[in-house]
Order: sequence, then structure tokens, then C-alpha cells
Amino acid sequence: MPGRLEGTVIPDHIAIILDGNGRWAERRNLPRAMGHKAGCEAVEQTVRNCAKLGVKYLTVYGFSTENWKRSEEEVSALMNLFRIYLKKLLRVAREEGCCCRMIGDERRFAPDIRKGIDTLVSETRELRNMTFTIAINYGGRDELRRSVAGILREYQEHPFDIEETVTENFISSHLDTAGIPDPDLLIRTSGELRISNFLLWQIAYSEIYVTDLLWPDFDMTALEDAILAYNKRDRRFGGRKA
Ligand code: IPE
Ligand code: IPE
Ligand code: MG
Repeated sequence: MPGRLEGTVIPDHIAIILDGNGRWAERRNLPRAMGHKAGCEAVEQTVRNCAKLGVKYLTVYGFSTENWKRSEEEVSALMNLFRIYLKKLLRVAREEGCCCRMIGDERRFAPDIRKGIDTLVSETRELRNMTFTIAINYGGRDELRRSVAGILREYQEHPFDIEETVTENFISSHLDTAGIPDPDLLIRTSGELRISNFLLWQIAYSEIYVTDLLWPDFDMTALEDAILAYNKRDRRFGGRKA
């Protein structure tokens, strides 16, 4: 890896709680929707930057199960941006060789958005350079709820030995993120020190990095800063210090 990242380990899986779009816009006296638009551009750029650095999995939190509580105006602006960026992302994913996945409950979205999601996922299924996962209408608790309901339905149809079958791997394989390794590095922008219902099960041992930058300002330098900080961490997973 040339430049600032020479000799560093690139995390396999980076997950991002992108936050601060609203504040970015408010500081410029712009409507919040403009912050979300700039945030979408930053997502597009981050996909390209991660693919360039050889990150294998990138997961971004775009819209939470709680974000429906925002004003009708803001929610509808976000839905319109999804419409536009699902198409733009298809082009980016093809150019960068990214397999796209969605996590969250997409049933609440309008039919045309669901169709956009289906197209993005099916058209990029075979691409292998990086897996890019977008969390929309996602909540860690909602994911666990849906997964427990799914497991109970399976049990009703074909009862199994509970102690033997219900392992940690079994639970992981029933989550939306089935097949995706747990994040190595979890980044949150805008300085907030909380998880906001993101990947509750999967981040058990992720390294957390918080930057005060607002999401639309998150660029390659910011990504490199996060990776450099990650390289200083001593990951022990509960074991003894080496
Ligand atoms: C993150 O930016 C994007 C979404 C949650 C949809 P915010 O909209 O939360 O921005 P702030 O936190 O209000 O600045
Ligand atoms: C987290 O940001 C959700 C997403 C990034 C999609 P929020 O802005 O919704 O989180 P809180 O309200 O600050 O916890
Ligand atoms: Mg926020």
C-alpha cells in the first residue's frame, strides 16, 4: 500500500455510522436535504476509496428504523435521494466491482424503491472485488426480532435439538448479515459516542473510531486516519495481552 498507509493492515470489514448530514447543511444555512445529498456523494466516494484500498466489506448505515420519526419533509427527501442514488450506485458498483447487499426491512419502502434495491442487488451479485452493504430501515433490535421469529417458524415446521442447533454461528446465519464477517472497524462521524441501534450482535469485538468530521466531509484522508488509528489497536478478543 503506497503513501500514508504503507505497511499497514487494511481492515477486512469497515462499518460506518454516517452521521452529521443535517448539521453540515445547517452550518451552511442550507435545508437538511442538501446535507443528505452531500452525504450520498460521500457514500459514493467512500465506496470508491474503500475498493481502492482493498477493503473487502464496507457496510454503511443509511437509514434507521427510528429515522421514520423525522419530519415528513425530511423523510420524503431521503426517499427521493434513495431513488436517485440506487441508480448511481449501480454504476459505481459495476465500475469498482462491488457486490451490493441491503440489510434491514425493505418491506416498508415504496414499490419503486424496492425495485431499485432488487436491481442493484441482482445486477451486482457476481462482482467480487468488495461487498458493499447498505443498511436502510435497519435496526439491530429489529434484525434480532425478525431473526428470532424466523428461527421459531423453522422450529415449528421441523423441530430440532435446541441446545445442539442454536449455536452462535446459527444465530449469525439467521441475521440479515449472514455470510458477512463481523466488522473489524466501526467508524462514526460527527462526534457522537453511541451505537444508535447499528449491528448490535456483529460489533461485539469491533474496534470503534469516532471522528468529529461531519459525514459529507469524510474523504480519503479521513478514511486513512481511521485505518491508521485501527493499526495502533491491540485486538485481544478477551484473551491475554500478547
Ligand atoms: C445522518 O445524518 C443521516 C441519517 C441519519 C439519515 P443526520 O441527518 O442524522 O445529521 P445530524 O445528526 O442531524 O447532523
Ligand atoms: C444513526 O444516526 C442512524 C444512521 C446513521 C442512519 P442518527 O442521527 O439517527 O442517530 P442519533 O439519533 O443521533 O442516535
Ligand atoms: Mg444524526
